[in-house]
Amino acid sequence: MNSRIIGTGQYLPENIVTNEKLSETVDTSHDWIVERTGICQRHIADDDATTSGLAYHAVMAALKDANVDAQDIDLIILATTTPDHTYPSTATLLQEMIGNNHAASFDISAACSGFIYALGIADNFIKAGSAKKAIVVGSELYSRVLDWEDRTTCVLFGDGAAAVVLEATEEEGIISTHLHADGSYKDLLSVKKSVISGPDVYPYVQMKGNEVFRHAVTKLHEIVEETLTAVNLTGDDIDWLIPHQANLRIMTATAKRAGMPREKMIVTVDKHANTSAASIPLALDVARKDGRVKKGDLVLMEAFGGGFTWGSALVRM
Ligand code: UT7
Repeated sequence: MNSRIIGTGQYLPENIVTNEKLSETVDTSHDWIVERTGICQRHIADDDATTSGLAYHAVMAALKDANVDAQDIDLIILATTTPDHTYPSTATLLQEMIGNNHAASFDISAACSGFIYALGIADNFIKAGSAKKAIVVGSELYSRVLDWEDRTTCVLFGDGAAAVVLEATEEEGIISTHLHADGSYKDLLSVKKSVISGPDVYPYVQMKGNEVFRHAVTKLHEIVEETLTAVNLTGDDIDWLIPHQANLRIMTATAKRAGMPREKMIVTVDKHANTSAASIPLALDVARKDGRVKKGDLVLMEAFGGGFTWGSALVRM
């Protein structure tokens, strides 16, 4: 048994904050942000928005796209690092909102790799026969964990959510997933909102940007190699690369080292900025809806994030 993506959906808050707008309140410029990251704007949610609420809109769109009833879902995995509460999980809040009262539902915390982790887990549930129809959703309110006076981080992130619906099938679907982590890098990228006290506690994103950059380029190259080697393919065989959308320079370097032309890479970082666990399904939904990613295409997704965590998914659409 395989799992296949049969629907996608997204939700972005209406409010768009451009680089120009940001540079009115923090010491930065459109040119610096575009040159270093490729980001031109980000969506920022209103104060009353919730991570479960963003996820709800994305999931309803994905269920409609898949033509699946919420009651037929037996697994919900929500990837986020900005959950509504410690518990109940954001996944169970979402489950109630969509009118489902039986699916196994839980959150995954793997920072920007969260969607790939959640997809890998859902795929294994389905392959093991433990679920037949699953929702995997990445939903983030990063605006709530940013120090808006810190120009080194606040220009990089945005809010948003996106979801996929998976179905058990004998057709080819998710071909392989690869997940890794190395906790020894815990201090290079973090949000230390804590139940403990002490000097480490700091409720906003802290990042040693250029060190994260260096590790991201190395680990993403390795994960792409690992994935292609596992299935005996090369970059030429891949129709689309959908990287985690953190920084256009990292994305371009990964595509180049995989031997894939820039035209095969889906880019949304310019419009969405880094939406952490939501960025890959957002890019996938954009590319499916605009007709680039079609049924039968071979798609390679890869991500790197805090922890460090990193991973990939090779998917036949
Ligand atoms: O999604 C999880 C993974 N996260 C990532 O992949 C992010 C990885 N890192 C990056 O994307 C890049 O390191 C950044 C975009 C965060 C920074 O780019 P950089 O080329 O590594 O710049 P830098 O940190 O070395 O800073 C260069 C200069 C510094 O000034 P000095 O010390 O040279 O005078 C910074 O203070 O740029 C300054 N700077 C800014 N200037 C204007 C830092 N942020 C800004 C800003 N506007 N927003």
